[in-house]
Amino acid sequence: MSSSDTVSVRFAQVEDVPAICAIVNHYIAESSSNFRTEPYSVEEWAEQLHAGAERYPYLVAEAGGAVAGVAYAGPWRPKQAYAWTAESTVYVSPAHQGLGIGSLLYGELLKRLEEQGFRSAMAQITQPNPGSEALHERFGFALLGSIRDAGFKHGAWHGVGIWQRELGAAPDLPAPTLPVRR
Ligand SMILES: CC(C)(COP(=O)(O)OP(=O)(O)OC[C@H]1O[C@@H](n2cnc3c(N)ncnc32)[C@H](O)[C@@H]1OP(=O)(O)O)[C@@H](O)C(=O)NCCC(=O)NCCS
Repeated sequence: MSSSDTVSVRFAQVEDVPAICAIVNHYIAESSSNFRTEPYSVEEWAEQLHAGAERYPYLVAEAGGAVAGVAYAGPWRPKQAYAWTAESTVYVSPAHQGLGIGSLLYGELLKRLEEQGFRSAMAQITQPNPGSEALHERFGFALLGSIRDAGFKHGAWHGVGIWQRELGAAPDLPAPTLPVRR
């Protein structure tokens, strides 16, 4: 990407799924930032987008006509009282790192989650991951603690840091979160 390329953030569409899959599968194969060891299939990701995109923002960054990154949210835990707590995730393609695209995506994702009425965004960050930790610190996430040796991948044990960003006030009686507004 050249510095003259315009970067735009928009909602992910089903046509974006092969490109999203390629980015996420790269990090599944080459790193421990994602604890999956098997790649996603395009069908699996399309189903995830179909199932989640009404309740959670699924965003892509487009640069020079290509998908350069993806940020999305999902449930932190399935039990009902966790309804105001979302887990947030971001991946930027290797060719587009360090250009501010992760920040652009995460800023938009967190703004939308707050507008929808979510109370917290949570992130799980495999250790070490200085790039992701820097990004999360930039957006006001605090490290609550770590799970030691949470996973074994690529021949090594990895801890996972649990990070929280509070998004809004905690009303005595929270209204249900709003659906995604397009
Ligand atoms: C983490 C990631 C999303 C950051 O996206 P990015 O577009 O490269 O980040 P940005 O250019 O917006 O930079 C955000 C901040 O992180 C810092 N940063 C980025 N990469 C860094 C690195 N490798 N080491 C230290 N700091 C780094 C930047 O300096 C910037 O900080 P600043 O605002 O104080 O200057 C991207 O590197 C990535 O996709 N990594 C691999 C997948 C991954 O780990 N995803 C997160 C899973 S929890």
